[in-house]
Amino acid sequence: MKKIILVTGGTGYIGSHTVVELQTAGYEVVIIDNLSNSNREVIDGIERISGIRPVFYEMDCNDKPGLQKVLMENKGIKGIIHFAASKAVGESVHKPLAYYRNNLVTLLNLLDLMPEYAVEGIVFSSSCTVYGQPDVLPVTEDAPIKPALSPYGNTKQINEEIIRDAIHAGLPFKSIILRYFNPIGAHPSAEIGELPNGVPQNLVPFVTQTAIGIRKELSVFGDDYDTPDGSCIRDYINVVDLAKAHVIAMNRMLENKSKNNLEIFNLGTGRGISVLELINTFEKSTGVKVLYKIVERREGDIEKVWANPEHANKVLGWAAKETLEDTLITAWNWQKKLKNRSFIR
Ligand code: WQD
Repeated sequence: MKKIILVTGGTGYIGSHTVVELQTAGYEVVIIDNLSNSNREVIDGIERISGIRPVFYEMDCNDKPGLQKVLMENKGIKGIIHFAASKAVGESVHKPLAYYRNNLVTLLNLLDLMPEYAVEGIVFSSSCTVYGQPDVLPVTEDAPIKPALSPYGNTKQINEEIIRDAIHAGLPFKSIILRYFNPIGAHPSAEIGELPNGVPQNLVPFVTQTAIGIRKELSVFGDDYDTPDGSCIRDYINVVDLAKAHVIAMNRMLENKSKNNLEIFNLGTGRGISVLELINTFEKSTGVKVLYKIVERREGDIEKVWANPEHANKVLGWAAKETLEDTLITAWNWQKKLKNRSFIR
């Protein structure tokens, strides 16, 4: 019998790619998503890729009785991958309580219910945002956690602490915390990808929307940073590579290979890319020009951060494989496909 995994936020960007990889690896998937930042048609995209339609509940993870019902109706859920969260840094500054409620209560509900339903492990979506501007680059998992710059960032830090304390208290489950760097790109089939809500805040969707003519011009936030070309540096990781790491993490917990009940891994490529380099690589690999101008720095931006992924490479046996060129082509193919689709916003 296939093992069942519950994926919260499974119609979201990283969630949907992970659902496909879980199905491909032989898991049965149950998705919970409140569709606050995604679309029901994502389920069709998943089915077109894997040939399997995941079970789907339109529901909020704040709804504890609802969660309980899902766990009861799908007996034998072995693991949870918890993506469901609000993630707009700027919005979190204006709506802190909504962010704390959404991002903390959902995790508490899941952890509360796991022992009762014998769920063995939870993979938690964390972020390199917990490192702030690291003192040492590339950043390793034992780098100090810096005070968060936004309520959103703070929710990730608090979530990590909640999990750590729960495991320390001896609650009967395991957890793997994955700290993502900057996920980009789309599935190579162009059946699923990122669906930004309104004006994109993130670089790559803004680049592809500018390239296709939805946006007039890309603003590059600052060229006076202490970096070789003056623009900020990030570690851009292919979303399918990232999704695969979740399957490896889940296997590891369910096969009792974890060294400790709590493990933490950076998921990045180990390579820092500047904003200007990314634009240049997009233009070279797609042959499409991106109109851009340099503007003021964006408040709260980290100057440079990239991962040391050795821990994930050695212990998980996972490494980012896709090149930046190929990844940007997938983002572009997805953007072109979106143009002809009904769910474009
Ligand atoms: C990347 C670079 C911008 C837009 C994101 C999430 C954050 C966290 C990590 C999950 C920066 C520059 C961007 C634009 C630009 N994820 N840029 N023009 O800031 O690293 O953070 O990933 O926790 O929540 O927001 O990613 O894509 O916004 O920016 O010049 O129009 O691109 O200044 O240097 P960031 P990003």
